[in-house]
Amino acid sequence: MVYPNGVKALDRVNINIDRGEFVFMVGESGAGKSTIIKLLCREFLPSSGSIRMFGRDIARFRRREVPMLRRSIGVVFQDFRLLTNRTVYDNVAFALQVIGASSREIRKRVPDALEMVGLTEKAHMKPLELSGGQQQRVCLARAIVNQPLLIIADEPTGNLDPKTSLGIIDTLRSINIRGTTVVMATHDKEVVDQMRQRVIALHAGQVIRDQRGGAYTYHGV
Ligand SMILES: Nc1ncnc2c1ncn2[C@@H]1O[C@H](COP(=O)(O)OP(=O)(O)OP(=O)(O)O)[C@@H](O)[C@H]1O
Ligand SMILES: [Mg+2]
Repeated sequence: MVYPNGVKALDRVNINIDRGEFVFMVGESGAGKSTIIKLLCREFLPSSGSIRMFGRDIARFRRREVPMLRRSIGVVFQDFRLLTNRTVYDNVAFALQVIGASSREIRKRVPDALEMVGLTEKAHMKPLELSGGQQQRVCLARAIVNQPLLIIADEPTGNLDPKTSLGIIDTLRSINIRGTTVVMATHDKEVVDQMRQRVIALHAGQVIRDQRGGAYTYHGV
């Protein structure tokens, strides 16, 4: 991936993730983690190479098929991207409205998702009335509410205290155990070391390690 300004963000990255996997992406700031995530969401297309998802090259999705792709993916963005003039409840409900869920379904699923991230009490507040970590949890609720096949989370524990972080990870892990694939970019050493899942380490746009049952730093096991 070369950005329009000429920055080469990813170089010969070759990653294969199976359905149901739990994958951490680690690497220093600027290594290319968010770039991979944006490519997976088809926010832009790679300058060369291809991305296959659910068995298809995502560059070849027709324009009208892109919403369907995004519906199959729940994304927690590094920069939140919440609707600031809507309540927490509405932000989460919106993810269901856009896919045409019935109001009955919305009334059931939104409280469930808010409960999973521990924000039941904040449902009627606006995002900017919440702390950074709480806003992050709204993003997670929004990503999981439509029970996607794949959850991609960009530093979902970046602003959280260790206890809340582990709560978020437990939520992701329990969704993963039920079959959802999880890909998570993180700098959170404690979380990665505790989980011992697959770790893909990036450095300057290249994959330097892809290890099952890995830790944050390479121990050579
Ligand atoms: N929109 C953009 N235009 C040009 N260059 C970009 C753009 N977004 C990212 N980059 C560059 O691409 C490289 C990878 O950035 P990326 O955001 O993928 O890193 P990251 O691993 O997510 O870092 P962090 O841990 O800080 O979030 C960096 O050199 C960055 O400056
Ligand atoms: Mg990033």
